[in-house]
Amino acid sequence: MTEAEALPVFADVDTGVDDAMALAYLFASDDAHVVGIASTAGNVPVDQVCTNNFGLLELCGRTGIPVSRGADGPLSIPLRTAEDTHGPEGLGYARLPPVDGRLTDYDAAQAWVRAAREHPGKLVGLAVGPLTNLALAMRIEPALPRLLRRLVIMGGAFGYRGNTTPVSEWNVHVDPEAASEVFNVWGAAWGLEKPSHLPIVLGLNLTEHAAMTPSTLGRLAAAAGSSTTPMSVLDDRGTRSAAANPLIRVLEDAMRFYFEFHFDQGEGYLAHLHDPLAAAVALDPDLVRYRQATVDVELTGTLTRGMTVADWSGAWGRYPNAHIGVEVDPEAFFDRFIARVGPFAASLVS
Ligand code: RIB
Ligand code: CA
Repeated sequence: MTEAEALPVFADVDTGVDDAMALAYLFASDDAHVVGIASTAGNVPVDQVCTNNFGLLELCGRTGIPVSRGADGPLSIPLRTAEDTHGPEGLGYARLPPVDGRLTDYDAAQAWVRAAREHPGKLVGLAVGPLTNLALAMRIEPALPRLLRRLVIMGGAFGYRGNTTPVSEWNVHVDPEAASEVFNVWGAAWGLEKPSHLPIVLGLNLTEHAAMTPSTLGRLAAAAGSSTTPMSVLDDRGTRSAAANPLIRVLEDAMRFYFEFHFDQGEGYLAHLHDPLAAAVALDPDLVRYRQATVDVELTGTLTRGMTVADWSGAWGRYPNAHIGVEVDPEAFFDRFIARVGPFAASLVS
């Protein structure tokens, strides 16, 4: 597929471990042409997100993709980061060589708007971090919902517990005001007029079905034709990957930290691939089943701030503003992830 035939994709990430896996998936996909990356403060501070994005572009041979720096923090509250989950630099135990990347001379919000205007009606937006910069972009360009072909958001939890508070998911929890603004403005922009253009929203209720295990990671190394050593919860903490392939090595070092975090949380030696699933859906929405609903975010609850609430039955009398992911076949996703990222990793050394 030529670049001109591929889907133009704009990725807004708070590169962390699963964001990195999502970017690798997009770079490995012939049906995706990544036209820009927005660095959003979240898992780690925004400048570390920029550094991680430049390091991944260098590793994956995609240094021509423009990277924009987002806001220092959320719209109206202090930034909270998650080095406990993603590691001190956001990529687990992986350390990428420093890259002298040059940021765009416009910020991430402007980058959203520029990309949408350059690809009117064709751009696929993917937001897998806090929605700070997407909200700022919609303030600059209220027509953004009409300019995008598709928007996929990884965020929230619907009829499901949170991962940051008992009821709040990380991306929404970091900037609840931004999430509320995006859902409400998008609903007003489209409402019933073009339900097909409502954002796809993938919450933990869906993405936690994409649980990567050491054996799945082993399948990825094999698909890359790379040697590796199977990971185990019995390994010494911080054991570094011996994979011969440089991308597999980085992904294994990143994932080991993520496996250890989930194990310590009592969820098993595994890792939920929230963002890579969202990236796969951005390229192929048919991977998931959806239910239409009106989504809003609790902003004032003492115990429930940052909770995403879905009105499935029109009780609020408001237009639907989201297609919420409710069902996925994890094996179909992992088969596709491995079938794309494995050979891509191999191509980096051939
Ligand atoms: O709750 C999961 C989300 O929060 C993912 O996007 C992960 O990268 C973190 O940002
Ligand atoms: Ca993320």
